[in-house]
Amino acid sequence: MSIFKSRGPDQSGNEDILVGLDIGTTKICCIIAVPDNLGGIEIRGVGNSKSLGMTRGMVVNMDLTIQAIREAVDEASAMAGCRVDDVYLGIAGGHIHSFNTEGVIAVRDKVERIITEEDKKRVQKAALVLNTPVDRDIFQSVAQEYVVDGQDGILDPVGMVGVRLEVKVHVITGAINAIQNLLNCVANAGFNVNDIILESLASASAVLSPQEMDVGAAILDCGGGTTDIALFAGGAVKHSAVLALGGNSLTSDLAQGLRTSNEIAEMLKISEGCCLTSMVEGRGPVEVPSVGGFAPREVPARYFSAILERRVEEILTHVSQEFVRSGFDGAINGVVLTGGTSLLPGVTEMAREIFNRPVRRGYPACGGFLAEMVHDPKFATGIGLILYGLQNSESAMRVPKSEKSSPSLWGRIWKRLKSMLEQG
Ligand SMILES: Nc1ncnc2c1ncn2[C@@H]1O[C@H](COP(=O)(O)OP(=O)(O)OP(=O)(O)O)[C@@H](O)[C@H]1O
Ligand SMILES: [Mg+2]
Repeated sequence: MSIFKSRGPDQSGNEDILVGLDIGTTKICCIIAVPDNLGGIEIRGVGNSKSLGMTRGMVVNMDLTIQAIREAVDEASAMAGCRVDDVYLGIAGGHIHSFNTEGVIAVRDKVERIITEEDKKRVQKAALVLNTPVDRDIFQSVAQEYVVDGQDGILDPVGMVGVRLEVKVHVITGAINAIQNLLNCVANAGFNVNDIILESLASASAVLSPQEMDVGAAILDCGGGTTDIALFAGGAVKHSAVLALGGNSLTSDLAQGLRTSNEIAEMLKISEGCCLTSMVEGRGPVEVPSVGGFAPREVPARYFSAILERRVEEILTHVSQEFVRSGFDGAINGVVLTGGTSLLPGVTEMAREIFNRPVRRGYPACGGFLAEMVHDPKFATGIGLILYGLQNSESAMRVPKSEKSSPSLWGRIWKRLKSMLEQG
């Protein structure tokens, strides 16, 4: 549950069409869907393009990124037979930091002491009176729970009776420049941004069940450039973090270890990869195709696997340390792995060992005749962006239409949020 009001689904002439735009490090993916009657979505269009202008979740080449955004959106809109105007945009990258904070107010109605929408907004506003460094800004904030006169665990306090109202909020900040570059790419590609959503929270909407969020679970979106972490307990996000390491590091380790090109290393990782040496005992050697004038070679399966094992172990150990650093380690009762790198054989087994908890792979679920096509961890973010947008009618971040293509847009976001809250 986020604390800022949303306008609901895209209404720009494509009524009920919802579009998720996942600008990943390896692929840009656009998903078009319509809400179904059960609170889920039905996929109408899917578009993918190779992401060549991103590194570790951040834009490094705007032209290539703009072009790839257009390609992905064009493909999805041709499949869906509709025009795309507004998108829910995912964001990740090593520049993102998150923390928890609180706000407290006295309830205004001193006679009947009934908590109103206005009290709720005032307490949200109080929680966000924060000093952020000049080069960073808050792009998403999620209300975790409300506390009324000491009684905690309240998801919506409106209508309850009390004197003192508190809110606990998860705040996510990012480097202004990195966010603005991403927004400018989308604006230059010709699309408006409805909401900016942290990718791990989006992916969680697609692959974590409400029960898992309630009992305590972690999601790891293991992508190409980043590994995104989000921890849930009591039905709310408690911690999020982005680790700037992902499947691309596995590929470059292989390329180095096998003395081959990145392209061949990537191909071999997908076809032969396994990150547990114990799982490849007795397997024949891996054939490394020729590069340039060099002859093909064979490397023992164990050696090939050991290269992947070392890096995956490093990533998962970092994640495990992040669980502890978050202070919510004890609340995590299971871990869900999603994103393309979660498909690597041996990852779930190694994660089970390192985290010492149940681990499963998360596949996004949705309806429609294209559902099978997106039943893949790589699409968790794209689908999750739509689900998050749909489920959180109180959305995290709204970008008013008039300002969507303004280059100085991001610098004004905080001011707008403030005035939005002030208007109530
Ligand atoms: N079957 C597979 N086995 C191993 N790795 C895989 C497999 N399929 C995809 N990958 C890896 O998954 C990564 C891409 O995953 P994904 O599409 O989730 O990343 P992304 O969204 O582009 O990147 P990011 O989220 O980090 O910005 C690549 O590194 C790719 O090599
Ligand atoms: Mg991704």
